Amino acid sequence: MAVAVFMRRYWIAAALNGSKLSVELILLRNRLFGLLLLAILLAACNSQETAAPLPTLPPEVAAGKQLFQVHCASCHVIEGDTVIVGPSLARVAANAGSRVAGLDARQYIELSILQPDAFLVEGFDNLMPSTLGKQLTGEELDQLVAYLLTLE
Ligand code: HEC
Repeated sequence: MAVAVFMRRYWIAAALNGSKLSVELILLRNRLFGLLLLAILLAACNSQETAAPLPTLPPEVAAGKQLFQVHCASCHVIEGDTVIVGPSLARVAANAGSRVAGLDARQYIELSILQPDAFLVEGFDNLMPSTLGKQLTGEELDQLVAYLLTLE
């Protein structure tokens, strides 16, 4: 708007002057002025750009991670081979699909939580609580499984 008023004032001044050359010069000047404004505007926009955000976990996986801390982390680590009470779940997503014939990774992880005694990992006793299926809602179970499936 301000630019338009500015240009108009010069237009009129130029017209009054009656000089064709000065009109052209003023037009050129206004055009350059416009470009300058545009450049300043773009520079301002760029400088406001914040650093790229760090990737965050999808909400379902993030919720599962929290549930894991509450219900599972007392017995399972998710990195390395440390045994607290149960086996490390560091690569559970990669291993789960080959534990029980006919069960894919998701089904095996669900079974492990709902019926821990259905299959015992070699070298481990049946020490995983069998009450988890009652404590967790269906949604929480989905979130936990979604999280465990990221541990490859
Ligand atoms: C009191 C300790 C304890 C708690 C708490 C516990 N577990 Fe376990 N878990 C074990 C033990 C011991 C085993 C090995 C015996 C077996 O297969 O049931 C095991 C086995 C597993 C397995 C099979 C791992 C494999 O390599 O095949 C999965 C998956 C698993 N647990 C997930 C969970 C999840 C998810 C939770 C939380 C909701 C949880 N556990 C809570 C003790 C525990």
